[in-house]
Amino acid sequence: MTQSVSRDVAADAGAPAPALVSTAMVKWHIVAAVAWLAIAMFAGLLYATQFMQHWQLPKIALLSPGRIRMVHTNLVAFGFLVNAFLAMLYWTVPRLTGKRVLSGVLGGTILVAWNAIVLLTFVGLLAGEAQAVEWGETPVWVDPLVVVGAILVWVQFYPPIVRTEERALYVSLWYFTAGFIWLGLTYIMGNFPPQYILAGSAAGPLLGLYIHDLVGLFVTPMGWGMMYFFVPVILRAPIWSHALSLVGFWGLAFFYPLQGVHHFLGSPIPMFAQYSAVISTIAIEIVVVTVIVNFFMTWQSAPASASSSLRRNMALRWFWVGALNYFITCLQCAFQVTLTFQQVIHFTDWVVGHAHMVMFGVFSFWIFGMIEHLWPKLVGRDWWSMKLRKCFFWFTAVGLGSMFLVLTAGGLIEGFMSLHLAPRESILESMRPFWVTRTLTGIAIIIGFACLVVNMVMTVVASPREHIDEDYAPYEQVEQEVAVGTL
Ligand code: HEM
Repeated sequence: MTQSVSRDVAADAGAPAPALVSTAMVKWHIVAAVAWLAIAMFAGLLYATQFMQHWQLPKIALLSPGRIRMVHTNLVAFGFLVNAFLAMLYWTVPRLTGKRVLSGVLGGTILVAWNAIVLLTFVGLLAGEAQAVEWGETPVWVDPLVVVGAILVWVQFYPPIVRTEERALYVSLWYFTAGFIWLGLTYIMGNFPPQYILAGSAAGPLLGLYIHDLVGLFVTPMGWGMMYFFVPVILRAPIWSHALSLVGFWGLAFFYPLQGVHHFLGSPIPMFAQYSAVISTIAIEIVVVTVIVNFFMTWQSAPASASSSLRRNMALRWFWVGALNYFITCLQCAFQVTLTFQQVIHFTDWVVGHAHMVMFGVFSFWIFGMIEHLWPKLVGRDWWSMKLRKCFFWFTAVGLGSMFLVLTAGGLIEGFMSLHLAPRESILESMRPFWVTRTLTGIAIIIGFACLVVNMVMTVVASPREHIDEDYAPYEQVEQEVAVGTL
């Protein structure tokens, strides 16, 4: 953030121009994200009970397990993650560029339109209208609306990036700029050609690319960009290496799109495509390590008070544990991308454990860090209860950690039993204790999440202390830079 920001803020002080950052947009997108996550988690828990052979809603097609599973995954992705990332963009892009987003009216339109799309998806999935595309289950009649939604997001966020007076863009903006384009292209590629043009193993590589790129070319750039913004601000120290962050960017751009087929190893897709996906996955391993190294070195090289604040600073704690989880998932990837390992873990709960670790343990943890950091600034009150913040952290971290362990262990047992041709009934019987434990871990996660929701509400209605912003306001007032980067 530089002097152009300060100039804008100073101008705001003199004239009744709209504020540089629309806090209302940040707030409402966070509220929407939390609301969708509540429904998604409840659907996840409901679906988990199906594995214990206790389906509470028998013979109601509308609420059958398969549909509830899709509600879980789609609301997590499109309801929670996308809303949270939009909130993050409204906070970060104007600060990094010194320019406002295009329009307040457009902001309101995007907020309403996007959440209407999620609602339509929710209803469509329950009504049995799912599209037969993994992660693209949004009904076919919702797909064009999603594309329009993505275009509106471009229209809203590109103008400040293009009009900025910065001589060099901070790395977060690199990720956001590319992430918007990738989102549109990925969504169109995954939802339209496999539905109308291609079929069978010809559609396979495209679908593999789609599920992989949705995470790698949208969730990942948004998540990395978010981390590169908030961590230096919270630590009040520049990122350790700007060069390394750019290596990460170009590595992601180059290697990520080549590896979609690694989701279908051992399938009828030609082996040259499978091998090339394995090799580019090994390359991306090196790239993701740059992000992990950059995070931990930034944290290490920050002033002593900042490093020791891990105990006191809850936001930092979420980012730190998220980065650790990232390391774990990347380590897992190194094994699971080999054909040997795939023989064991394919179609087992190992994969589900991995999915929760990435989507929840990494990106959602970073989003929770952002919410911890921003909510008091958005509502002008300090957090209502420190105890609830700690409960939220510990229930979630322990819940997710044990869910991951139990699914990973169960997955290995399932895999080895299948490999030795054990009868399906014995495999299911052996998995029962793992699935019961998974449900219990889900309950722990929901208790943690309830602490967050109660604390957010109580902070607005009952917090006795006004929040004094020491992270952004002082720098903007005295026309100094916040140490976001090393530019
Ligand atoms: C209350 C907490 C949760 C419970 C009980 C839960 C449970 C489940 C269950 C039972 C499945 C289906 C697994 C299968 O078909 O074998 C699933 C899938 C999935 N969940 Fe969750 N979940 C929870 C929270 C979350 C959160 C917070 C996220 C992400 C932010 C998430 C992301 C996913 C993903 C990505 C999948 C798809 C996994 C795959 O297809 O391999 N879940 N979850």
